[in-house]
Order: sequence, then C-alpha cells, then structure tokens
Amino acid sequence: MARPKTVHTCAECGASAPKWQGQCPGCGAWNTLVETVAVPAAARFETVAGARSQVTLLASVRAQENARIATGIEEFDRVLGGGLVAGGVVLLGGDPGIGKSTLLLQACAALGAARRTLYVTGEESVEQVALRAQRLSLVNAPVELLAEVELEAIVAAINATRPEIVVVDSIQTVFTGTLASAPGSVAQVRECAAQLTRLAKQRGVVVVFVGHVTKEGAIAGPRVLEHIVDTVLYFEGDPHSSFRLVRAIKNRFGAANELGVFGMTERGLKGVGNPSALFLSQHHAEIPGSAIVATLEGSRPLLVEIQALVDPVQGGMPRRLAVGLDPQRLALLLAVLHRHGGVETAGYDVFVNAVGGVRIQEPAVDLAVLLAIESSIKNRPLPAKSLVFGEVGLAGEIRPVQRGQERIREAAKLGFRTVVIPTANRPKHGVDGVTIVTVDRVDEALRALRDA
Ligand code: TYD
Ligand code: MG
Repeated sequence: MARPKTVHTCAECGASAPKWQGQCPGCGAWNTLVETVAVPAAARFETVAGARSQVTLLASVRAQENARIATGIEEFDRVLGGGLVAGGVVLLGGDPGIGKSTLLLQACAALGAARRTLYVTGEESVEQVALRAQRLSLVNAPVELLAEVELEAIVAAINATRPEIVVVDSIQTVFTGTLASAPGSVAQVRECAAQLTRLAKQRGVVVVFVGHVTKEGAIAGPRVLEHIVDTVLYFEGDPHSSFRLVRAIKNRFGAANELGVFGMTERGLKGVGNPSALFLSQHHAEIPGSAIVATLEGSRPLLVEIQALVDPVQGGMPRRLAVGLDPQRLALLLAVLHRHGGVETAGYDVFVNAVGGVRIQEPAVDLAVLLAIESSIKNRPLPAKSLVFGEVGLAGEIRPVQRGQERIREAAKLGFRTVVIPTANRPKHGVDGVTIVTVDRVDEALRALRDA
C-alpha cells in the first residue's frame, strides 16, 4: 500500500512545506514544522458540507445528562465527575512510575465484569501486565489484553471485538505507518490520538489514554493532546510519599479542579476517605510557624497545614522559597506583612511549605501563609486547634472567599475550636463548638491571634 502523502505544517501560522525545515517559510518561526497527513482541500470541504448542520434554537434542543459508567473506584469516579461517559475520551497524565497503569488496571478489572474492556499495552508485555494483576489480586479479572503499538492493528482489534472501554497505555508508544516521524514524536502522538478519538465518537466507545509527562524533547508530552480529549486528569504526588492525587484539569462532562486522593499500598491504589487528616502533620503540641488552612479542592474542603520557617540570612541575599504555593504570591504577602502588619522580613530567609505534597493555588491560603510566617519570626505558636482562611489584598484588607461555611464545618468535624476568617464570611448561624473570630485587616488578624 502506498503511504498517504504527508506535509509539514507550521504549528504557529499553518503554512505548509513538503519537507521538514528548521524555519517556517510562512512566518519565519523556528522549529514549528510538524509532519501531518495531507488532506486535499476538496475532502475537507466534503466532510464539512456532508455534515449538513442546521441552525437550531437553543430552547428547542433536548439535552440529556450523559449516562455515567461508574468504575467502582470512588475517588476515580469523583474526579471523572461521576464516572466515564460513552464516547468520552480521557487523558491520564503523570510522571513515570506514579501509578497510572496500576489505577487503570484496577478500573478495567472492576468495569470488565459488566462491560467488554480492552487494555492495550504498548509499554509492557501481557506477562508483565499479568504480573501486576497478580500483585493486585486481580488475576481472574475479565479484561482483554492486547500488546500492540501499531495504530492500524489497534483500530482493527477494536473493530473486531467491539469493546465498550479501551485503555491505551501509553499513547506515546502508539504509531501509525502513514507518518514517517518517529514513534513518540508530536506528529505521531497527535495523529494517533486524533484517529482513536474519532473512533471513540463514532462507536461510542470510552477511550482512556495514558500519557507520560516528559521534559521538552523528542518525546511529545500529553500537553499536545489536551485540546483533543474531553477530560484531562493528572496524577500528582511526592514520589517519596505513598499518597497520590488525581486532579481534573479539564472536563467537558463535569467540574474541573476535582481531586481524588489515593494511597499506594502493597495491593494497589486505595481511595482515601478522609483526605483532610492526611495533610495535617502529626504533632502533639503546637509549634511556631504552623497554620492550618481550609482550602477548597473541587467540590470538597480540605484542611492543609502551612509551615513557615523564617531564619536570619547567613550572608548573601535573603532567600524566599515556596513549596506547593505560588512563589510570586509569597513575595507579595511579605510586602503586605511589612507595610500593613509592621513585620520586617528583609534580613531573613523565608521558606514556606504546604504539607503532604499538595499544591494550593487559591488565594484563600494567603492569611494562613502570613500568620505562619509571623508565628515563625516571633517563635510563638498559633493557638491550639485554630484554623484560618482569607484572601489578603495589597491594601492590607482581608477579603472573603467562596463557600466559607463549608470550610468552617469541615474544621469543626476535625475538632478545630477557633477559626479566624474574613468578616464577610461570618456564618449567619454559629457552628457548634467553634469560636469564630472575624477580621477585616492584616494588623487586626495579627492582634487577634496574639490575644487569643
Ligand atoms: P505504575 O502503575 O506502573 O506506574 P506508571 O504506569 O504511572 O508508570 O506504578 C508503578 C509503581 O507503583 C511502582 O513503583 C510500584 C508501585 N506499586 C505498588 O506500590 N503497589 C502495587 O500494588 C503496584 C501494582 C505497584
Ligand atoms: Mg505504566
């Protein structure tokens, strides 16, 4: 069979060249040409014209909630927004060795009981997958395996066996003979994913891609796929701890920013029912430089300990380091603390850390960072069983955050007795057993804790 014609298209301006070149002939950008299958303009027009889309009135469209296919793994279903959706394409990205294959094999085993499930393994042999299944006590799981890396063979297998769920582990190993580029290159990954996505939509099959996050180089990372798929999930977690977080970055069928929490055990990944307890470090007495914040992760509040260490500079420039928090935000908070709280940090190194390897992006953590820093400088712990949240503004004001009540309730559930919160977040009715301290300004917050 003759190979279809390919062209090299610029990722920036769309100009094409018959051969690869370093510089785009159209816009002059460097290194932007990517090999693609040439589609004659007439064929492109046909598909557009053939679809015969009509203009419809929004009100006349009968929308249906997509039926969910629950994987039976509660935390996984949560990040998916309730489960998989027929015809939906999911990308599960993450560093090598973090647990992607483990989670998907567990999900396939659970799904396989009721639905035909195909696990395509391009990285490991079927024996290696069987060995993993043994460790997970899933040897008798009704999952069909296919060790294959050629796209055409995978598509043929899907057409022949008609599974309802297909896992492709990993998309970087799949290649199509129609492109001359090496397997794992941007062109290959994008083309193979696009073809499998088309198949998923046509047949109503769920397709899950595994994608490795890799540094820029010959191997294309999952970033190039994010816009093709419906749902993007990322595995996060400190490789040295046994906890793993699966975060939804994009979800056409549910809320983004949802978080699933797992623990890696001898027998695979287990959902963690009470994640708040996980991110609180286990000290018995109060220590200086520690503040607990209630942050929102997707649909649920999560209590996380923020630690700060402020130490006199040992010669040279003062250092500022933020782990799990935004470093720019830290610089901003130090300036606010100085100007509006009267606390000087110029001669100090400042280190802050969100315990447990979580990454917190929302500004509700500001007040906790600020108070942890002050607590470290003054070497005075915050009151026992206290929790803080609130956004800090440049003018030194404490701004309200969303869903304050839920955060306070989560704190009460875990035995916290005092909460320091923005005034606008004061709940209409108190929360049993919790003293609520409301603050409007940074200096007020510092004072409130000194007097507490
Ligand atoms: P894996 O799912 O192969 O990672 P990925 O597909 O993301 O590359 O997981 C690999 C790690 O998980 C490996 O270091 C071993 C560990 N592991 C366990 O701790 N317990 C288990 O039951 C299994 C199957 C793996
Ligand atoms: Mg793997």
